[in-house]
Amino acid sequence: NAGGQDAKNLRVKLVLLGDSGVGKSCIVLRFVRGQFDPTSKVTVGASFLSQTIALQDSTTVKFEIWDTAGQERYAALAPLYYRGAAVAVIVYDITSPESFSKAQYWVKELQKHGSPDIVMALVGNKADLNEKREVAVQDGTEYAEKNGMFFIETSAKTADNINELFEDFVDYAT
Ligand code: GTP
Ligand code: MG
Repeated sequence: NAGGQDAKNLRVKLVLLGDSGVGKSCIVLRFVRGQFDPTSKVTVGASFLSQTIALQDSTTVKFEIWDTAGQERYAALAPLYYRGAAVAVIVYDITSPESFSKAQYWVKELQKHGSPDIVMALVGNKADLNEKREVAVQDGTEYAEKNGMFFIETSAKTADNINELFEDFVDYAT
């Protein structure tokens, strides 16, 4: 649209879920500030950040991001954050099969208790640690496909696929 008269300000409410240590906060920090923190501290409760990206035609998409705490003691808080979300990003660490099991737990929890129209993505993070990989790409792909989810492997450390992850959700902006 050459005139730009359809420019809009859209937003996407997004929640990140997954085991402690998989890199949720690092993914958000990479997307929002372009940084990586190798000494990232565990999240307490949850933290909120937002980031606005510009599309063609001056349309902007504001991502409103709830970064939840993965430690078990905070699990009961999760519904507070995923209930209002349009998109749930469920993260595991490709070097940790336990974290992949935990991701499957979150998928099931959202299928049972989440909004029926929530869009889910499965993310295998720490893709830079390929030599320590214990979850095959195919395992992630197949699980996501079976459950109607997006799938992507990312690295918050190298920034690989971080912008691509969020760009997948532009279509769900309202
Ligand atoms: P909780 O807040 O406890 O739920 O954990 P979290 O999922 O937010 O983990 P966090 O982002 O704090 O990262 C945990 C550790 O993993 C930190 O030491 C990070 O530096 C490291 N890390 C995160 N992402 C990556 C990555 O892509 N590659 C590598 N090599 N390390 C990463
Ligand atoms: Mg965190």
